[in-house]
Amino acid sequence: MAASACLLALTAGAAPAGAASAVVAQSFAGGYVGSPACAACHRATYDAWAGSQHARAMQVADAKSVLGDFKNAKFTYAGTTSTFFTRDGKYFVRTDGPDGKPADFEILYTFGVEPLQQYLIELPGGRLQALGIAWDARPKAAGGQRRFHLYPGQKLRAGDPLHWTGVDQNWNFMCAECHLTDLRKKFDPALGEYRTTWSEISVGCEACHGPGADHLAWAQAKPAGKPTSVADMGLAIALTERKGIQWAPVAATGNAQRSAPRASSREIDVCGAAMRGRRASPTTTFMASPRSTRIGSCGWTRGCTGSGATLSSIGCVAQQRADGC
Ligand code: HEC
Ligand code: HEC
Ligand code: HEC
Repeated sequence: MAASACLLALTAGAAPAGAASAVVAQSFAGGYVGSPACAACHRATYDAWAGSQHARAMQVADAKSVLGDFKNAKFTYAGTTSTFFTRDGKYFVRTDGPDGKPADFEILYTFGVEPLQQYLIELPGGRLQALGIAWDARPKAAGGQRRFHLYPGQKLRAGDPLHWTGVDQNWNFMCAECHLTDLRKKFDPALGEYRTTWSEISVGCEACHGPGADHLAWAQAKPAGKPTSVADMGLAIALTERKGIQWAPVAATGNAQRSAPRASSREIDVCGAAMRGRRASPTTTFMASPRSTRIGSCGWTRGCTGSGATLSSIGCVAQQRADGC
């Protein structure tokens, strides 16, 4: 690993971006450096990414990131009226908690941007939980700018796995791997607690390109001549399958045709891995339980339990399509 001492010193001293939570923390390990480290040399790519929803898949809750109405806004579900409000610049919801009784909970993070946004609340044991009352971020004219419950009519209460305090709404286990970079769940089965860490609370450059430290070291050494391969450049993954490829329309079918057949499935694989959180590392503690998957606003699917390195993720997406997603 060519991560320089200088780089380590830099990252060790950096203030965690998600300082809002004491237990869910930023950590740079395994050669991850963070997207801002790529900006100097890949400015246009960085700017395009920074304006994208990949960069905003999860954000610290603040005036910029929170889209919903928190001006003492009320929403009633299953006989409980929840109130969304701010206090000292922080965001709160008064709603039914793990014991079923109403209490004030601070919103630490936003999750997603549009067409809907969810909110994350911390519960004991290092858990972040996704509140079931979501914000419809679409314009008013399209029926948006309002709250709604993700499980209308189900009257969920504390104790139900689908209630926001339940295991199915647990961010560490169910959501984080697709929305963050270098997610390490770090579940301690003995204590029943999470010590989850991540390098970036969004889908950063390295979620797709892999850890960047070796590439930075290569680029900073200013090597003479053109690199002969991506590995030469210190990059773990070559996302080059589409180099020189065009898709030309075929009049007879109305479909586009690839100029040359695809010789590997690396890009789809990376995409699948990033989406499905397959990047298991020896330092990650995974809960031994089948994995459900969810694509965006589509509901949970029943299948997709594989944990091997095979490319069942595509089958998984196909499965979801078959499920009507
Ligand atoms: C100090 C400058 C520098 C920094 C910082 C940097 N890169 Fe690069 N990067 C380069 C250079 C130089 C190339 C080679 C360009 C060429 O010759 O085509 C390159 C090429 C790449 C490529 C293209 C590889 C290919 O397929 O040809 C990717 C992907 C890439 N960088 C990703 C990243 C990521 C992700 C980061 C942040 C972790 C990053 N770079 C940070 C200088 C840098
Ligand atoms: C969601 C996955 C994903 C993310 C996030 C991502 N990339 Fe890429 N990147 C790719 C893929 C896939 C390609 C290959 C593109 C192609 O073949 O058209 C690529 C290509 C590149 C290239 C080489 C080709 C080019 O257009 O210059 C560079 C450099 C690069 N990315 C840098 C970055 C940087 C820097 C970031 C963060 C600011 C980033 N990428 C974020 C998936 C991603
Ligand atoms: C298998 C990967 C994956 C998992 C797991 C996942 N998401 Fe997502 N999520 C995505 C992708 C990809 C998008 C953006 C694409 C889209 O809009 O459909 C997204 C978008 C969202 C959005 C924005 C609205 C939307 O539909 O685009 C919200 C809110 C969201 N996810 C919440 C969650 C919550 C809460 C969990 C856990 C209970 C979760 N996600 C788990 C991949 C995932």
